This record gives sequence, structure tokens and C-alpha cells, in this order.
Amino acid sequence: MKKINVGIIGFGTVGAGTFEALSTNRHIIADRVGAEVIVRKIADLDIDTDRGIPVKPGRECMTTDAMEVINDPEIQIIAELMGGLGKAKEFILKAMEKGKHVVTANKALLAEHGEEIYKAADQNGVGLCFEASVGGGIPIIGALKNGLSANRITTCMGILNGTSNYILTKMTKKNLPYEEVVEEAVALGFAEDPPTLDVDGTDAAHKLAILISIIFGQAVAFKDIPREGILSITPDDIRFARELGYSIKLLAIATDLGDKVEARVHPAMIPKHHILANVNGAYNAIYIEGDFVGPNLYYGLGAGRRPTGSAVVSDIISLAREIRSGAKKRLSPLAHASSPSKKIEIQPSDEIQTPCYFRFSALDTPGVLSKIAGILADFKISISSVIQKGRVTKGSVPLVMLTHKALERDAKKAIAIIDELDMVTDKTVMIRVEGSKL
Ligand code: HSE
Repeated sequence: MKKINVGIIGFGTVGAGTFEALSTNRHIIADRVGAEVIVRKIADLDIDTDRGIPVKPGRECMTTDAMEVINDPEIQIIAELMGGLGKAKEFILKAMEKGKHVVTANKALLAEHGEEIYKAADQNGVGLCFEASVGGGIPIIGALKNGLSANRITTCMGILNGTSNYILTKMTKKNLPYEEVVEEAVALGFAEDPPTLDVDGTDAAHKLAILISIIFGQAVAFKDIPREGILSITPDDIRFARELGYSIKLLAIATDLGDKVEARVHPAMIPKHHILANVNGAYNAIYIEGDFVGPNLYYGLGAGRRPTGSAVVSDIISLAREIRSGAKKRLSPLAHASSPSKKIEIQPSDEIQTPCYFRFSALDTPGVLSKIAGILADFKISISSVIQKGRVTKGSVPLVMLTHKALERDAKKAIAIIDELDMVTDKTVMIRVEGSKL
């Protein structure tokens, strides 16, 4: 049987999952590809630790020098699974120059330097696949490139960061503050220490940038995607949201506005019956709407050795099939034969319009409600409901309002004025509302 050789650079969680899937399912994979897919070399700075899978530490195929993998003439596919921006980019570009096909799980690299890497793949006539970069084991990249390719994608809304979703789920179920839940999550190994890029929205925005690139066939400026994390969410907000019939989730949203793309990552209140409201723990989910297919939902584990191994190996299989069939041309990384004539732009965050949840901290004195409502009215922000239950927090009471759709620019200006009032004792919390009829 023909053999196709793979080199792995980076033998951490994802690398080990990739090796494990390739060896556990080698017969199934050989049948599907029509060739044996063999891991010929693995590079990692640590070649001594036992990963708990049947590749023995220090075995001949392991090296601390990534270039040994890249320079091996027998290797046709390189899996870059080390992560990070500097060295990983260098290795990917070198591998492509040598005519190797590349698989990567590196979401930060693709979101921040995608244009250069996609171009290098095309110029060198090699394949570049990155299923594991978004949603772990969920085959969302394949769905967008293939299954949904007949559609104009109108909406993409996802829970793309498992760490944040785990933290918000625990805060909701146990009524605990962020700090306490993070401490526990780190201790149990569910979160990095500290989980900065997960909880500040960066990781989800990286993934959203990749999804947008595939949907629109061009790399987008990651830095233009407005993002907010979950650090300001309190158990009070989660409780008020529940009373109003909502759950709080960290959402990554892209909407096709025709001339622009609305893209954003932030905590959002979604109605309890919304399909994404019931995605809990470390799970990810991506809701897609296409003009012909209608709504689609993809759900699964967004991280972990076996789910990410599944995604990386699916890419290796698709490249191996092309090699096996002798395909002369490779599919471009974004699966678009030509870039759309118009450069897509991300809509400025000020122009976003959503209903809003505001939690004001105010003294419990006559006139507070009318004063705040008056300022909102000055900015044409219409109130839908109000809760004030007299719970005392640091000498003030929380005053909660849900509004109808408000322009972000107006909401921020109104809050700035309200926060200057003597009767307002703390910074106002604003959470956008999604998926409701407000
Ligand atoms: N750190 C990511 C998450 C997993 O928490 O979802 C890898 O993309």
C-alpha cells in the first residue's frame, strides 16, 4: 500500500491527540485514503515526557529540531501544532517553500497573519488546512467551505471559547463570583493560569476572524473586531438576566450587512429558550444562517486532546486524499478561487445596534429613576422593562433596565453622562441583548 508521511511540530495536547487518532484509527484511515498515513517525525522541545500514548519518549522519530522535520524529503504533510506567532509562522512558511502541505491549529497566527500565510500556500501550490483552529472537534470550517458553499451566509453566531463558557456556566449554576470560579477552574485544569486571552475575548475574536475569512473569501483585519470579555459580569447580572428570562454567554457574532460586516465579541444576554442559551460547560456551538439552508447548528467540544486530534487528522486525511489521487491543483486555503472584488470592512463598533441591559448603581432617593430615564430619552433610547428590588450593594441599589434597540454610540454617551450624576455610585454595567424581539 502507498505511504503518506506526516511530520508533527509541537507535541503538546493537540500534537498528542493527532498522533493518537492517526495510530488508533490507522486501518480506518488507510481505507479512507487508499494509503497508509504514517507519522515519520515529531519535533518538540521536550522529547522526554511520556504523553501517555504509544510513542515512546526519546524514540528515533522524535527530535528537538523542527527543521529536521521540515527538511525531511519523505515528509509530504507538516502539522504545525506548537502555537504562538513567531517560530510557528517561520516553520509554516519554510515548510511551504519546501513544497510541503501544512495543517495548523494556530488560530492566533491565522487571525493575525492569515493574509500572508494564505498567499504563501497559493504561491507554493500547497494545501493549507486549519479545521482545529475554530471550535476544536466541531467540523465548522469544512461545513462553511463545502456543505454550506451554495449559500450567502447571513449570520454566524458562536460560543467559541470553552473556558469562558465553563466559567459563566459555573457562575450561573453556583451563584459564585468570577474570581472564585476561575480559581477553581485553574485548579481543576479547565483554564490556563491566568486565562487572560480566553476571558478577555481575544481567543473568540481570533476564531471569529477565521470564520469571517472563509465566509467572505478574504482575510479580515483582526484588530478591527471589537471585543469585550467576561470580567465585568457579576452574579447579580446573571441573576437579573435570569429574572428577565435570559442567560449570559460570551458570543462571537458576524452579520453580513451587504456593504459591511458587523463583527463583534462580547458577553450577551440571550433568551433562555434560544438554542445557544443551553450550550453549557466547556462546550462550543456555532449557529449559522444561510439564505437557502436557513438555520444550522454545530455543537461539540471546543478543546481537548481527542476532539482537536479529530479535527487535525480530518485535515491530514483530506490532504492525503488529494496526494493519493494525484491532484495537480490545491484548493485555496479559504476555498475561494478568486478574492471578492471588494475588500470587506468591519462596521465600526459605534454603529452597532442592539437592545441593551443596563445595571445602574444609584442611591435609593426620589427622582433617580426619572433622571436616568430622562437621559436615556435624550439619546432616543427607549426602555422596555425596569427592575428595582432594593438590594443594597455598597450603599446603593441596583436599578436594572432593558431597552429596545439602541445605537452603541448613543448608549455609551448616555452612560457617560449618567455615571457623572451624584446619585450614581458606581460605573454602569451594559450588556447587549441578542436573539430577542426587543
Ligand atoms: N482556549 C480555548 C478555549 C481552546 O477555551 O476554548 C482552544 O482553542
